[in-house]
Amino acid sequence: MNKPKVTVVGSINMDMVTTTDVAPKQGETVLGTTFAIAPGGKGANQAVAAARLGAEVRMVGCVGDDAFGSLLLQGLQEKGIAIDRVERVTHCSSGVATIVLSNGDNRIIITPGANKHVNESFVANCEQTIAESDIVLVQLEIPLEAVKLAIALCAKHQVPVILNPAPAQTLPEETLQQCTYITPNETEQAELFAGGEDVLKDKLIVTKGVQGVIWSEGGRDQLARGYQVDPVDTTGAGDTFNGALAVALAEGRSLAEAVSYANAAAALSVQAFGAQGGMPTEAEVFRFLQMVEGGVK
Ligand code: RIB
Repeated sequence: MNKPKVTVVGSINMDMVTTTDVAPKQGETVLGTTFAIAPGGKGANQAVAAARLGAEVRMVGCVGDDAFGSLLLQGLQEKGIAIDRVERVTHCSSGVATIVLSNGDNRIIITPGANKHVNESFVANCEQTIAESDIVLVQLEIPLEAVKLAIALCAKHQVPVILNPAPAQTLPEETLQQCTYITPNETEQAELFAGGEDVLKDKLIVTKGVQGVIWSEGGRDQLARGYQVDPVDTTGAGDTFNGALAVALAEGRSLAEAVSYANAAAALSVQAFGAQGGMPTEAEVFRFLQMVEGGVK
């Protein structure tokens, strides 16, 4: 089977991760236990997840001309991701995420840096890349105009597109309608739609952590159960879900199979440190599904 061609239009960040037993309250200072830097960014994470699962992945994005930019590019390349559509922006810092990791869960502040340069004209120059893809993944850590254009170009070329609306931002109805699937978590769903999502029901795939994933098919609500795993670091679990969903759909799996596969990949991903640290291979996902479900459902 040919490898599915997955294009990710999105952010590339360096994650600055401090672990602490207790996350500080407003105005409080607490002691951390460890500090580390690790590659991240929702776009790059989804690209790495898809590449780990065997896809041919192309990243569309920007890094700065700082030391982080070099490390981030090197990391993507080492994971087999094509970076010919990643630009180094001069006199600009790379995107950075400040992450507080406490009891396996996180709080994140993003400073976009070079990700701001993934604008409309940048995406317009990547039309050919989008048109040649089997599937495209987009998130909301780049300018909204670029997101809208990327999705419109997918519609123009009839390329399926998954929008992971994170961090949540209001989007025009036309853009939402042009998406093949929209994958908010519960919080993002509440912020984005506030109960008015019925017209988009067949596009929505909502991730609910250990409670699983819900979506609707042919007017019927579906649930893929969540898995109880001991999380080391939940950062990047949603990104793993999206990368895996894209790969499975591009491989021609049914929506139910693709959700089950992505759900399992996300569960596995939280068992190691770093957004990209625990992302599984295809064999690991199938082994896990075999163990917990007797195979892909
Ligand atoms: O989804 C997790 C990612 O969000 C982190 O890697 C961080 O960079 C932020 O973009």
